[in-house]
Formats: sequence, C-alpha cells, structure tokens
Amino acid sequence: MIDFHNHILPNVDDGSKSLDISLEMLTHAANQGITDVVNTVHYQHPKVETEDISLNRIQRKVNELQKKLDQNDIRIKLHLGAEVFFLPNLISIKDDQLATFSHGKYMLIEFQVHQIPHIQKQQLFDLKMSGVVPIIAHPERYKAVQENINIVADWLEAGCLIQVDAGSPLGYLGSKSKIASEKIIKNGWCQLIGSDSHDNKNRNFCLLESVDLIRSWGISNVDEWVNDNPSSIIDGTPISVDFDYMEEAKPNFFSRIKDRIGLS
Ligand SMILES: [Fe+2]
Repeated sequence: MIDFHNHILPNVDDGSKSLDISLEMLTHAANQGITDVVNTVHYQHPKVETEDISLNRIQRKVNELQKKLDQNDIRIKLHLGAEVFFLPNLISIKDDQLATFSHGKYMLIEFQVHQIPHIQKQQLFDLKMSGVVPIIAHPERYKAVQENINIVADWLEAGCLIQVDAGSPLGYLGSKSKIASEKIIKNGWCQLIGSDSHDNKNRNFCLLESVDLIRSWGISNVDEWVNDNPSSIIDGTPISVDFDYMEEAKPNFFSRIKDRIGLS
C-alpha cells in the first residue's frame, strides 16, 4: 500500500518531533503492509515557518530519513510531496516543484476547517485549466462539508480528486468527520486515502485498519485508493474518475436559492 498523506519528517512541520518518533511511526507503517510513504509537508501553512519549507531542504530531509530507514532495515520508500494551504496564489506557486507532485500534474490542497473561501472555485478552475489537477485534502473535516455534502460532488464535477483521512471513517477525528467520510465513501466520491499521520500516538498510520473497515462496507475498489491512484500521482499519469450525484444529494432549487442569498 501507498500512504499518500502524512507528516513524517522529524522537526519540520507540526508532524513528528524526533527521528526516533519518525522511525517508530514508519515501523508501524511497514507492519501494516505500507511500502511507500509520500511525505506531504505543510506548505505556506500559517502554523509553519514558510521560509524553511523549500524544495532543497525538504528533499535533503527526505534523503536523510530514507538513509536511516535503509540502515534500520525498515522497508519503506519515501517520496517527496506537500500539502498546500489554500491561499489565492495557487497559479503563482504551481511551478515550485515542491508544491505539486511529480511533473507538476497534481496539487494536494487543504482549507481551514472553519472556512472555505468563495474564491476557491475560480482558483481551482484556473489551476485545472493550467494542467494541474487539484486534490482536496480531507473534505470530511471541513465544517461546510459536514453541513452540505454536495460541496464534494461540486469539486469532483470541477475535475478535482478527493482524499479522505484514514482515521475519519474509524472515528478518530470526531463524529462529524466520521459521518461525512462515510457519506463521501459510500457515494463513490473518494479516490485516495491517506493516514495524515502526525505522531506515534493518536495520529499514527492507520491505513490497514481503515481499508479493512471500508472493505467490510462492501466497497471493493478501496484497493485502488491505496495502490493504483497514489501510484499514478507519483508517476504523473492521469486518473479517470466516474462519479454520480446521488439522487438525494443533488442541490435542490431551495438550497440553491439559500446559497445565493447566503442563508445556508
Ligand atoms: Fe496533513
């Protein structure tokens, strides 16, 4: 399996706090059958020192950690990536190799939990038109999505991909995230799962547990979300998405009017 979203580098962002913790987390990952870990360092996040998040530094940190993994016979291959905090500058940062996954084909984007700005629609459209596919990180954790699941279908319709956190269906990220993630997954709107692991305690790798749960819901293509699709992103090859608005999820006339006048 490939873990597509995590903060595994020691002392770089708000993730692992030491090399020992990183190695413990990655041992736990290897024991679950994870072979590849795509590190997604926070990029232009208000909580993280932005000037330190450069391609050269992060590549060097990934190489150093890979060396330690090899020395300790932990059989995991690390890959370089980032989780871009949404600001209205996506077009201007898309040529920074750290901001997109290989070959500039995909960008993982997160929003503030409590606010998804209106300007995101135009920004994501412009990004897609420029050849970069936006991947929306953990939509189930956003308040607006928990209140209106149709926002996820709108992102898919606009050509985005959807990444759910592995801990959400397991209930590790709260009951509202659990409910929203289950709707997203059961509606067939998810293409990727990532652990979003930050530490060796409550937010560790939990991909296997999550995949087992989702498979128990009768969803057999969950394997694509942790193998084929992240592999395509690493290689920079296209992912085709089939999705339908669920009948009950279609925005109705009244919710559109409420949206327009700002009541929803
Ligand atoms: Fe993250």
